[in-house]
Amino acid sequence: MRESIDEAQPWLDDPEYMAIVGKFLEKPELKKLDTIEHHHVSTRLQHSLRVSYQSYKISKKLGWKSYETARAGLFHDLFYYDWRKTKFAKSHAYVHPRIAYRNAQKLTDISPLEKDIIIKHMWGATLNPPRYKESFLVSFVDDAVAIKEWRASRRLKRRVHKHMRMNMQHENN
Ligand SMILES: [Fe+2]
Ligand SMILES: [Fe+2]
Repeated sequence: MRESIDEAQPWLDDPEYMAIVGKFLEKPELKKLDTIEHHHVSTRLQHSLRVSYQSYKISKKLGWKSYETARAGLFHDLFYYDWRKTKFAKSHAYVHPRIAYRNAQKLTDISPLEKDIIIKHMWGATLNPPRYKESFLVSFVDDAVAIKEWRASRRLKRRVHKHMRMNMQHENN
């Protein structure tokens, strides 16, 4: 079955979720994320909302801390640099969660659980394991969402190449 990136924004129809994150979406710090490309087919804001909302729904179903899961999921990639161009002494996987945490702190008080979710979301690529089940959850959901986005971007590229080939053939005939 063909996988497609979910263009829908189901969170907009979920007042309980929007009551948690809605006020942040009005802030320029979050709006700016919507101008940054993420995994080619997405903006960093859309990616963050997908991770936040899917994690929140699972967390809620399991009776876990869904409020913190929603917030930290939204903030997990709250950074603005282009990791392909900007290089730090430490890896991107290590650096960007720490920048996201610092940026999130400027917007709201961040609880220890939320801090762990944000800082450890790259676990697997970084060594320090999460302390809470909600942190594992967001890390797994982030991977799953990223894989879907990468697949969608590969499909998009293939379609563009096919289209270009067809155009060239048409021009040569
Ligand atoms: Fe990330
Ligand atoms: Fe992410």
